[in-house]
Amino acid sequence: MALVTTTEMFKKAYEGGYAIGAFNVNNMEIIQGITEGAKEVNAPLILQVSSGARKYANHTYLVKLVEAAIIETNLPIALHLDHGDTFELCKSCIDGGFTSVMIDGSHHSFEDNIALTKQVVDYAHAHGVVVEGELGRLAGIEDAVNVSAEDASYTNPAQVEEFVAKTGVDSLAIAIGTSHGAYKFKPGQKPQLRFDILKEVEKRLPGFPIVLHGASSVIPEFVEMINAHGGKMPDAIGIPEDMLREAAKMAVCKINIDSDLRLAMTATIRKYFDENPSHFDPRQYLSPARAAIKDMVKRKIVNVLGCDGKA
Ligand code: G3H
Ligand code: 13P
Ligand code: ZN
Repeated sequence: MALVTTTEMFKKAYEGGYAIGAFNVNNMEIIQGITEGAKEVNAPLILQVSSGARKYANHTYLVKLVEAAIIETNLPIALHLDHGDTFELCKSCIDGGFTSVMIDGSHHSFEDNIALTKQVVDYAHAHGVVVEGELGRLAGIEDAVNVSAEDASYTNPAQVEEFVAKTGVDSLAIAIGTSHGAYKFKPGQKPQLRFDILKEVEKRLPGFPIVLHGASSVIPEFVEMINAHGGKMPDAIGIPEDMLREAAKMAVCKINIDSDLRLAMTATIRKYFDENPSHFDPRQYLSPARAAIKDMVKRKIVNVLGCDGKA
């Protein structure tokens, strides 16, 4: 099987009341852990690459590793650019074999966001590639850009029809209270998502796939494990898994998860070194780290996404 676009995946997900997991990838062990987990529960996948990941691991290595994962698993997998910020970056990923790109124009004015997104859509569609746009601004850290809670803004549902009609995007990321990274809510704060905004967007764009970024749940067990083995993470609160499951039953067809994989991997490696201080063979500590990613992905597919058995 070759890489697929998200078109068919999203159509089935929308109709079936589930979402596809979009997991960030940076190296071989992460790609193996994610794809082996998805294989065990027979789930379709989106593997996404940020510009930071592309700089870290190199475009060709990542494409070839994902191609290898398809050969090994035979799963439907889309390869997606996460948070593309320029036309040139999107073009480079389209030319280099990605099947989906995000152009994140959410930092621009509405008009400039439309112009930039349309430029990417025109090029992508001419090359058989699908495009995710974004309206509204999430708080948190993405690719070294730190958006403070004050600068974050919910998506205005009154803008979505015009944005989709003028740009031709295939899916739309919206801001309803999720945020990037491990510190989404302050200790004592009650996590909340604006389901009213999601419902209004769904009403205005019937059948259209919606995307949620910043959807890690920051599972306390892993933060505690990091701190039990020499780490110093402050209290971290994420998005409750049951809220995300509700969103997946609605118009949300793609849910982005990165931080939960990072936490699982880091916690496992810290524990390993604590218990085996004399070991220095990377295969010894990367094997349990890869297994932790696999378990986390299975957990997300079953508890949050509901796409098990849908490959
Ligand atoms: O939204 C950002 C993703 O978690 C990717 O993070 O830019 O550090 O690779 P990164
Ligand atoms: P988290 O930091 O919540 O995992 O979000 C990841 C993301 O949105 C990638 O684009
Ligand atoms: Zn994101």
